[in-house]
Amino acid sequence: MTAPVRTRSSEDLIRAEGPVLAHNYHPLPVVVARAEGAWVEDVEGRRYLDMLAGYSALNFGHRNPALIAAAHEQLDRLTLTSRAFHNDRLAGFAERLAALTGLDMVLPMNTGAEAVESGIKVARKWAYEVKGVPADRATIVVAAENFHGRTTTIVGFSTDETARAGFGPFAPGFRIVPYNDLAALEAAVDETTAAVLIEPIQGEAGVIIPDDGYLTGVRELTRRMNCLFVADEIQSGLGRTGRTLAVEHERVVPDVVLLGKALGGGIVPVSAVVADREVLGVLRPGEHGSTFGGNPLAAAVGTAVVELLETGAFQRRAAELGTVLRDGLTGLVGKGVVGFRARGLWAGVDIDPALGTGREISARLMNEGVLVKDTHGSTIRLAPPLTITEEELLDALSTLERVLVGAA
Ligand SMILES: Cc1ncc(COP(=O)(O)O)c(C=O)c1O
Repeated sequence: MTAPVRTRSSEDLIRAEGPVLAHNYHPLPVVVARAEGAWVEDVEGRRYLDMLAGYSALNFGHRNPALIAAAHEQLDRLTLTSRAFHNDRLAGFAERLAALTGLDMVLPMNTGAEAVESGIKVARKWAYEVKGVPADRATIVVAAENFHGRTTTIVGFSTDETARAGFGPFAPGFRIVPYNDLAALEAAVDETTAAVLIEPIQGEAGVIIPDDGYLTGVRELTRRMNCLFVADEIQSGLGRTGRTLAVEHERVVPDVVLLGKALGGGIVPVSAVVADREVLGVLRPGEHGSTFGGNPLAAAVGTAVVELLETGAFQRRAAELGTVLRDGLTGLVGKGVVGFRARGLWAGVDIDPALGTGREISARLMNEGVLVKDTHGSTIRLAPPLTITEEELLDALSTLERVLVGAA
């Protein structure tokens, strides 16, 4: 990395945000100015290992050379057409993304929340047109502690009061059941059910991994009850867990897969609903759309992301380094870590609350040059770029150990 361009100090920039920026986030006090691979650099030139990777939007590292090259090439040619016209990048993107996921069709959108909203619309339309649910009676079953985004419909079926309070009235038609509980799911599904919408691993809840057999059970139940299994793989998908999709750990193929985050290569927002023809085929012109969805720049970057995943190298790497992460965390249990859940290069780590909140531990790690994010209480989440080296990962784990020993 070359020396940062000095503008204003970190302190000055953080202070300047106060009166002019909506306070919907409470970031750690680090002002990033540059990044490469698994590393970011602040305004003063201090370097930090990024163990969050933009909530998995940076699975392939900051400024991955192949993705940056694809973006540059496209920027020089064509960036936006709207879907009023065809563009020469979209067909290839859809073909390759469908092939990567083993499904038929792609609906391109931008953010994760939009993919979820689109998935809900498509599931309802399928319920009315294919399943025969009476008009406006369709229900969607979701899990408690879910995180699917921030729109009013989505926060309406959140169980996180901070996300919901003050934003009602909410859209009806959702039933909430405990996660990882097939009996509760079975009791909630009936002839009005359009879909079961779940995260195969609940990321924001603290990397909650369901019991083996849960996803298989969801698949069997949804098939038996003639409703769709919609898997929100926006955070869990695209290599993070050591497989292309987290559902692959149980060899399950959902009817609808929602993708986002890493699909944009850390460059542009790219999301998608990927599904079988019987499901996405219900949409007809004018019924759904997006000015930016499927734009040529997004399609070019998305195609380059799919190309990276087609080799299988990132999935293998996440699985291999996932073992290093798991072993490292196992060694910290009893030394400040009270428990953890990990799959691939993704872990929710419960810190002994006596040592501090997740936020306090995150702040101490930041001071030691490692960036992580807390979730709830004393839980922190680790999700480094899949390009991280073993040495860097081990360094991050020994920094965590040092911070925990220092806090004891
Ligand atoms: C599982 C899941 N779904 C949806 C979203 C929403 O994505 P976005 O912030 O791009 O709208 C997130 C974001 O964290 C997520 O983790």
